[in-house]
Amino acid sequence: MSIDKVGINLQELLLCITSAQDLINPVLVNHHQQVAYLSFKIAEQLDYPLKEQKEVFLAGLVHDIGALSEDERLEVIDNEPSCINVHAFNGARLLEEFKPLRRIADLVRYHHIPWNCGDGLSFMGKDVSIKSHIVHLADRTCVQIKSKRNVLSQLPAVLDALNKDSGTLFEPSSIEALNSLSKKEYIWLDLISDAPVRRLPRTLFDTVMLGIDDIIDLSMVFSHIIDFRSKFTAHHSAGVANTAHKLAQLLGFSPLECKMMLIAGYLHDLGKLAIDNKVLEKPAKLNEDEFNEMRSHTYYTYKLLDTIPQFETIKKWAAYHHERLDGTGYPFKIDGDSLPLGSRIMAVADVFTAITENRPYRMGLDDEKAMSILGDMAAKNAIDGNVVNTLFDHFQEINALREDAQAAASAKYDAYFADQGMR
Ligand SMILES: [Fe+2]
Ligand SMILES: [Fe+2]
Ligand SMILES: [Fe+2]
Repeated sequence: MSIDKVGINLQELLLCITSAQDLINPVLVNHHQQVAYLSFKIAEQLDYPLKEQKEVFLAGLVHDIGALSEDERLEVIDNEPSCINVHAFNGARLLEEFKPLRRIADLVRYHHIPWNCGDGLSFMGKDVSIKSHIVHLADRTCVQIKSKRNVLSQLPAVLDALNKDSGTLFEPSSIEALNSLSKKEYIWLDLISDAPVRRLPRTLFDTVMLGIDDIIDLSMVFSHIIDFRSKFTAHHSAGVANTAHKLAQLLGFSPLECKMMLIAGYLHDLGKLAIDNKVLEKPAKLNEDEFNEMRSHTYYTYKLLDTIPQFETIKKWAAYHHERLDGTGYPFKIDGDSLPLGSRIMAVADVFTAITENRPYRMGLDDEKAMSILGDMAAKNAIDGNVVNTLFDHFQEINALREDAQAAASAKYDAYFADQGMR
């Protein structure tokens, strides 16, 4: 990424994050992809214009993006409890923060509104698009298909059940489209394949030109999805990103590289999406399995960012933040000169933020203790002494930046869960 405007495949980027969300439990594997696939097929069957087919596809790809914990994910795919709209509204709120996705935020917001003989065309005075109803139907179809039985054998019973709810839960023309699709076996075989969206026309994955500032906005949205899963991490990535950004400036990185560092900071713990909440939130010492699971998060950060070719440098800066110069880090055991300066900066920013930030169970360390820990790590050649010295030379300034960024993220966290009693 060497220019200010980059051609990024937005769908690929979103697939990266919702696939990560689906890694958390085997029951969820490919759920977002399956719903994206089937939503598109229904819209295509209904002869929607291509632009609208794309919107339905995109909405399917991110529809549960606002369901952050494993429990919530399992609950919303299992049935439609009375609180079903919470994750949909939260997801829409997240998507609205990123300009290019505002147009699909409403489709996500209303993806559990019942059709209700046409009353479902509005909700609390706001219009609800039929495209939301398509995603709703695709979602409920996918959750009824169980991986243990042959898909074609279970199809008649699944369709019977859905047809009974035509007009009440589901919009009738979408049900009709689904009935037509049910006769084509390949659709259902595609749906349960490894990567259903790869069976769709490549034109759905169009490259959009995004400015680097748009990518910063989007990675900040991603950082909330990563961090808001737990009050223990609610503002962590904001602190790391802003610390790393400032260090990069002080160490002579170009303005564009500094922005890339901000993005890498927001995404450094992306792989934590694959880690069980019980492990993330355990206040006591982790047992061996939990410890190993936690340590695998940077491997997943690497693997997920690896799908975006334009993120090659960002991937290394982000995913190597637990590597150490003396070879004691993990998981790639990259050491010494092989560890890029950007990754060394991220390692220092991560340790600095982790020890100075307040956590629900403890206050952050004071300046003196924090500096002593960082100094010791640099003396042992675990982290880069030059980067640590740069931090020490501007300690108060960087610490204030970190605190402000984390306070802003905490305020968003509180707003996200306000009036929902979900914590
Ligand atoms: Fe949902
Ligand atoms: Fe980490
Ligand atoms: Fe971290």
